[in-house]
Amino acid sequence: MKMTEVVVITGSPSANSRSAALAAHARQLFEGRGVSVEQIDVKSLPAEDLLHANFNSAEIQAAIAKVSAARLLVVATPIYKVAYSGILKAFLDLLPQDGLTGKVVVSIASGGSAAHLLALDYALRPVLASLGVQSVIGNIYAVDSQLPRSPNGGYHIDTEIQRRLDAAVDAGFEQLVRLDLALTT
Ligand SMILES: Cc1cc2nc3c(=O)[nH]c(=O)nc-3n(C[C@H](O)[C@H](O)[C@H](O)COP(=O)(O)O)c2cc1C
Repeated sequence: MKMTEVVVITGSPSANSRSAALAAHARQLFEGRGVSVEQIDVKSLPAEDLLHANFNSAEIQAAIAKVSAARLLVVATPIYKVAYSGILKAFLDLLPQDGLTGKVVVSIASGGSAAHLLALDYALRPVLASLGVQSVIGNIYAVDSQLPRSPNGGYHIDTEIQRRLDAAVDAGFEQLVRLDLALTT
């Protein structure tokens, strides 16, 4: 299978999601550098399959295949009850135990409060590590006040958060270039 370079996984159940807006921005930055990007919106996967951990579901299998073909993942989640979202966990639970081996991750969260700034480190990172992630090269946490609604119905991303997303995407792009060099030499 041809390797996809980046897969964006969004883990919010909300239709108009702040964390998904951050992920969309990261996606645009990768695409602007000529990187191919695929996306998995966990809320669009069949809820029954997620809740019943139906590994045989065609949609779940297709999503797992996308993840497996990626070199770099952007994982975006809202902070729910001091951790990442339940639907993101439901999806991660369906990945094989070594399903993220060697992958590089940029993790992104939006939360109502800065008090849970470390949730990506204490909650998501150990799960990613247990699935084999090689390194988390960027953790971006935005509070809702840094993502005010914009007149077009989306969200305006605060300059400092844009700067951090840019830096994470730069680091991710460098990793992809290094991987390419390693594969071709
Ligand atoms: C059920 C629920 C639980 C939440 N728990 C927290 C929390 O523990 N800490 C926090 O900072 N924000 C919490 N929030 C606020 C969201 O994390 C925040 O609004 C976030 O930007 C939503 O992201 P989304 O638009 O991508 O879903 C919670 C929101 C909901 C709906």
